[in-house]
Amino acid sequence: MTGTKLGVWCATALLSLQGGMIAGAQTTSAAPDAAKLSIDANEIVHPVSPMLYGLMTEEINHSYEGGLYAELISNRTFRSDWAGLQRWELVRHGSAEASVSIDKTTGPSTALNSSAKLVITSATESNTAGLGNPGWWGIGLKPHTEYKGSLYAKSDSLSGPLMVRLIGNKSGLTLAETSIKLSGGDWKQYTYSFKTGAIAASAENHIEFTVSQPGTLWLQDVSLMPPTYANRENGNRIDLMEKMAAMKPTFLRLPGGNYLEGDRLQDWYDWKKTIGPIVDRPGHQAPWSYWSTDGLGLLEFLEWCEDLKIEPVLAVYAGYSLKGEHVKAGKDLEPYVQDALDEVEYVTGDVNTKWGAQRAKDGHPKPFPLHYIEVGNEDWLDHSGSYKERWPQFARALHTKYPQYKLIATAPVKATDKLEEADVVDDHYYKHTADMLDFTKHYDDAPRTGPKIFVGEWATLAGTPTPNFGAALADSAWMTSMERNSDLIIMSAYAPLLVNVNPQGSQWGTNLIGYDAATSFGSPSYYAQVLFAEHLGDGVPKSTLTDAGARFYYSATVDSKTNILHLKLVNASDKEQPLEVHIKGLTGPHLAKITSLHGASYEATNTITETSIVRPLYSSAQVTGDSWKYTAPALTIEAVDIVLK
Ligand code: AHR
Repeated sequence: MTGTKLGVWCATALLSLQGGMIAGAQTTSAAPDAAKLSIDANEIVHPVSPMLYGLMTEEINHSYEGGLYAELISNRTFRSDWAGLQRWELVRHGSAEASVSIDKTTGPSTALNSSAKLVITSATESNTAGLGNPGWWGIGLKPHTEYKGSLYAKSDSLSGPLMVRLIGNKSGLTLAETSIKLSGGDWKQYTYSFKTGAIAASAENHIEFTVSQPGTLWLQDVSLMPPTYANRENGNRIDLMEKMAAMKPTFLRLPGGNYLEGDRLQDWYDWKKTIGPIVDRPGHQAPWSYWSTDGLGLLEFLEWCEDLKIEPVLAVYAGYSLKGEHVKAGKDLEPYVQDALDEVEYVTGDVNTKWGAQRAKDGHPKPFPLHYIEVGNEDWLDHSGSYKERWPQFARALHTKYPQYKLIATAPVKATDKLEEADVVDDHYYKHTADMLDFTKHYDDAPRTGPKIFVGEWATLAGTPTPNFGAALADSAWMTSMERNSDLIIMSAYAPLLVNVNPQGSQWGTNLIGYDAATSFGSPSYYAQVLFAEHLGDGVPKSTLTDAGARFYYSATVDSKTNILHLKLVNASDKEQPLEVHIKGLTGPHLAKITSLHGASYEATNTITETSIVRPLYSSAQVTGDSWKYTAPALTIEAVDIVLK
């Protein structure tokens, strides 16, 4: 019996289909014969892991500072380098005279014990002086929107107002303004807010803080926040949270990656310094070459999970840092093991525990759900081999105090007893397109007797700053293999997730979601992730494929609650792939709903200005009885949903 594709490709997609060609594969051979795909949806081979797809992020590519963390002001804690204050500009309107320097002798807290010292020697109402901030390559403003800010200030004789203005870079026009009445004297926190009018949404804006009289003013922790996702105070950017929510993740691996380890021992993710009032967070040097204020600290990571209704996969620092230093197992490592135990208590302990009480004091009495704890990051890179002693010390302590949680090792480990056993091992794969396409059988014959697998970081590396369609095809091929092997692979996460696309914004070539200060976009691989997670059942049925072309991949899962067969068809070839799909026992007419992603070439991609070159297109096809003839278009990723009963 034949099925006709009823659905409608839009005009651009049709054109793309005709013009499709794999880079470097300019063959003109005939289309392959029909492949036979047989599925027995009544015979479930194994369940699909309920946590198969999740998120991994860290402070890289300005993922948080200048990214997800909604703070609009860059370098709000006034770090300076050899060239002086980073990102801030001295503002001297008209004939005003002023200078700025870093004062290391005064700040509002022990954590922030320095400040920007502004000495204004001449200023008037019409000749104001102060400081300007360009944001993170601009300040994204929207019309009719309220922005809320705060800052710490100390002043001598200055008691006049501190004017705060949002200004359009091109027009020089003030888009919103307010003033703060300085009370003079010692450090004090001030708040301010203002609302934009009927402005055009844009990233090309900056902010100025100015005074109109001479005096000395010290500033620290200068903040400006837009509305945030779920109205979370000190929260996250709405568009990026929405993009993550659409990926239907089940967990967030936090806080990294290399960000967990830091470059040197002193740079590790010392979570205790990232909680509590913002003014008490000193910030720290992130390994990807810039400073983290830790405004998005441990509690904010957990609240981000809560907002997305997902759970954390908590990575604890295991005494190894990226540039090769490690803490000797034994006495030296004990404080780090204790920090890990405390961290788990902060996440999960009730309010009667020391760290549960601290979490409540920080504003979140309710414990967070947790099932997995990861010990370290990429410890296979520790060529000293010290993980074989550090792991057991952590594993024994964590397994003893928290037997209910599963432990993830980041390198293969040997155990002398149950307490030292790894429940899961974290494997990472970054591969070029052809290599990823050829890697998809890797786990098919892997032993099922050892620890489960967490593919905690993976990506096809093609396209900058975000992946191209060829990468999306290889990513999809890889995802079909993870679904097929999801009895072994229990979790996975693409990495890196986020990238600020400004030229100085990124440190990694290929990243899933791009953004600037105003807008964001999903790459072809992002849409592939959404498609795979959206169309996922809870069981893998028995299936076979014969006579398929070399770069054709598929996955079949069945949802026991909805009775939907989710077929994923990935045709990474420039030739269409005819298929005879046999679904055992299917009778009568059924509608197949099809979601397609198509690229005109491997190089086709989305950008911050052209966000929808590759995007999901929807169609349907009629399936009658148990046999369906269908042709998977060239260079296409498809999810086909068929209700079985
Ligand atoms: O995802 C980028 C980096 O790749 C991670 O920080 C690290 O774990 C891996 O090497």
